[in-house]
Amino acid sequence: MSQFKKHVFICTQGPYCGFDGDTETIFERMKRQVGAYGLNEEIRVNRAGCLNQCGHGPILVVYPEAVWYSNVQAEDVDEIVATHLIGDRIVERLIFDAPPGNNKRVDHYPAAVHAFKDATEKLQKEREALRQATLRTLQQNAES
Ligand code: FES
Repeated sequence: MSQFKKHVFICTQGPYCGFDGDTETIFERMKRQVGAYGLNEEIRVNRAGCLNQCGHGPILVVYPEAVWYSNVQAEDVDEIVATHLIGDRIVERLIFDAPPGNNKRVDHYPAAVHAFKDATEKLQKEREALRQATLRTLQQNAES
């Protein structure tokens, strides 16, 4: 049995969806709407990294149904919450019916967006290197 009645993942941290719409506002609005229904314990809304559906964004997915929505805008959030998360009916006009797997389509983005993606990946590598260095330091301190 799932821990939550519904679990929503919104691509807020992927490199492309944030250029297709205001993903942070989508996230904040959905959290607020779910809270307004008093359902924070039953419906979990999470930020997510890239969901491998770039170019169709903003993308979000609702589990346990594994229903994907594309081109979601902030003004669509109230309908998704009321219809799907509360009413258990899919919002057909936003459904993303893609085959399983990676469905990235990113050629249409301007060079600046690709540069943003490259910079983001570089930062993630630096963060991971820092985490590894910190782990080594902790292990060394524990052994001494
Ligand atoms: S950037 Fe959102 S799915 Fe890849």
